[in-house]
Amino acid sequence: MTRHLLSAADLDPTEVTAVLDLAEEMAQVQGRPVKKLPALRGRTVVNLFFEDSTRTRSSFELAGKWLSADVINISAKGSSVSKGESLRDTVQTVAAMGVDALVIRHHASGAPLQATGWIDAHVINAGDGTHEHPTQALLDAFTMRRHFRGQSDAPVATDGSVGTPGSQPDNDFAGRTVVIVGDLTHSRVVRSNVLLLSRLGAEVVLVAPPTLLPSGVSSWPVTVSTDFDEVLPQADIVMMLRVQRERMSGGYFPTPREYTVGYGLTRDRLARLAAGAAICHPGPMNRGLEISADAADGAASLVLDQVAAGVAVRMSVLYNLLGGTDDTGTAARADRAGTPTTNGAGAPR
Ligand code: CP
Repeated sequence: MTRHLLSAADLDPTEVTAVLDLAEEMAQVQGRPVKKLPALRGRTVVNLFFEDSTRTRSSFELAGKWLSADVINISAKGSSVSKGESLRDTVQTVAAMGVDALVIRHHASGAPLQATGWIDAHVINAGDGTHEHPTQALLDAFTMRRHFRGQSDAPVATDGSVGTPGSQPDNDFAGRTVVIVGDLTHSRVVRSNVLLLSRLGAEVVLVAPPTLLPSGVSSWPVTVSTDFDEVLPQADIVMMLRVQRERMSGGYFPTPREYTVGYGLTRDRLARLAAGAAICHPGPMNRGLEISADAADGAASLVLDQVAAGVAVRMSVLYNLLGGTDDTGTAARADRAGTPTTNGAGAPR
């Protein structure tokens, strides 16, 4: 894995498979009474969030803590950012304390990439503006892969090479159609998902009103439609995206009601999903706007599976970045810490 995780494009299909396979093992920790592994003991992770978050920040915090890292959270509100401190000064100040990884969410696209030029610590992009949200795409892929495999919370069979470069790319996504619907213009989730899912071999169909199609989408490896009803029956997964009214400066659609009629996953559309198709939403959801309660809470919904997957996938990402070797290239910290594993990779069994 690369030194930082800034984009879904940082991972080739073999690396994605390794992250997802290790996340399957990490997911077993979630079901234990004692949710703790010593793999990242002595490592320090800082969640630096300049934008609000419920899922991403708390799951990175749990992921770090369950791997025994020291984790602190800094948000713009309540920090010296509110006194006007710059991004660069904030990042360098936090890094100067000796942290190993910074998990950064920022309203400006490219902010985590900029940070990599200022500090030595590993940087993970936890969502930058309308650019990318790579760990969201990884947890979405994890959730979809489980659905395609018919899994609930059972671990995949492994040969002991989980999390190593020996992992084979997935073919779970070949021949699968993922329809992503909604406010594509303002969505970092769609950009990371298109990169990841197309690399894994899925057919990606994007659906939005013409006003919410991103510029340049014709060059993306996707099919584009403005007719949700036409593509709905093809979907193995329907991923609904939030209408991001806080990022909208003008009128992208006439009224919320008209948006729902054209692009909402309503009760009527729910009834027209193909058999076995599932529903994803990265959250937070605008119930009654892009998704009905029947769809969000029904049997086809994977929304809470996505939330649960967020912890396991972020444990895997943190372990992949921090767990194998330390920054001076010495022996694996997870092994030094005496991780109770059988594969020697510091992963749970
Ligand atoms: N999906 C997602 O990023 O949610 P949060 O904004 O709650 O982190």
